[in-house]
Amino acid sequence: MTSVIRIAAVSKRFGPSTAVDDVTLDIRENEFLALLGASGCGKTTLLRLIAGLEQPDSGAIFIGGDNMTGTPPYARPVNMMFQSYALFPHMTVADNVAFGLKQDGISGAALTARVKEALEGVELETLGTRKPDQLSGGQRQRVALARCLAKRPKVLLLDEPMAALDKHLRERTQLELMALRARLGITFVVVTHDQSEAMAMADRVAVMEEGRILQVAPPRELYERPANARVARFFGDINLWDAAAAPRRPHPAGIVAIRPERIHMSRTPGSDTVCEGTVADVAYLGTASTCFVTTTTGLTVRVLVRSDEGAPPFTPGERVYLTWPASAMMALDP
Ligand SMILES: Nc1ncnc2c1ncn2[C@@H]1O[C@H](COP(=O)(O)OP(=O)(O)OP(=O)(O)O)[C@@H](O)[C@H]1O
Ligand SMILES: [Mg+2]
Repeated sequence: MTSVIRIAAVSKRFGPSTAVDDVTLDIRENEFLALLGASGCGKTTLLRLIAGLEQPDSGAIFIGGDNMTGTPPYARPVNMMFQSYALFPHMTVADNVAFGLKQDGISGAALTARVKEALEGVELETLGTRKPDQLSGGQRQRVALARCLAKRPKVLLLDEPMAALDKHLRERTQLELMALRARLGITFVVVTHDQSEAMAMADRVAVMEEGRILQVAPPRELYERPANARVARFFGDINLWDAAAAPRRPHPAGIVAIRPERIHMSRTPGSDTVCEGTVADVAYLGTASTCFVTTTTGLTVRVLVRSDEGAPPFTPGERVYLTWPASAMMALDP
């Protein structure tokens, strides 16, 4: 697999704070890479470095094999959709999408076709004559996306492209982006701080913390084999215990982690019971519930109980018995 973007030991400081700290990352051709991390961890700065809107203090960025040091943003084969994007308020939706294409010298029937294709891509083809203030927040966001797509860049950098969308529209836009990627052969680098969005869409996810990349891997690998407890915590619900306090102790040191869906909970003890406890709380999620169990040794255990298991739902105060295979336990560094 060829890498279309190579970020080589890049650091970026703003005064005393280091926004991007010695990041090395290869982004592959046609890949959908998600940058995931808490607010302030450096996601936008990393995108801006790729786009050429910031210069690294050290390290270098290569696009298509070429060192981009000194190459201005407009000369890079990337297009960025900003976290707080702006549409031209006095132009129609279609003119907003056409604007960048005209600058590239595209006109006439070719221009019309490209605008139509981009608007269809985000299901806005019927709203081309509206002005931005006649659109919902989600629709405006999709115009901004269409404006980026219309230029058919080699690499599309999207900073929280779905932040303004409601859940339903967000899921549909996720599917559209994935379809577009398959159809157009564009490399996507997408910033999000929603782990389920990253998991649903990305080929690989780079988990960032304080300017550094903790792990970059396909979603399943991050979920099943997180590099450390911080990555595990970012990816779904998990029990993290000090190895010394964990029931059934196969691990000598560090942190023991187990996903709530790997634990089986019963009202009766069995020969394979690992520990017993009392249901402290139940959070109903629809298809399942998360039960918080306090064990006799004082540990809190999260257990995911599917709603279709037949028996009446667990309620706080019930005595319960927990079991899980030793293989479900992961030993992690902090
Ligand atoms: N132009 C700037 N001047 C000074 N500090 C900056 C500048 N841009 C970013 N920072 C700082 O760099 C760090 C990383 O910022 P960045 O915008 O990359 O975070 P982020 O991961 O995109 O966060 P969010 O999810 O909130 O958008 C933050 O501490 C931020 O305050
Ligand atoms: Mg940001």
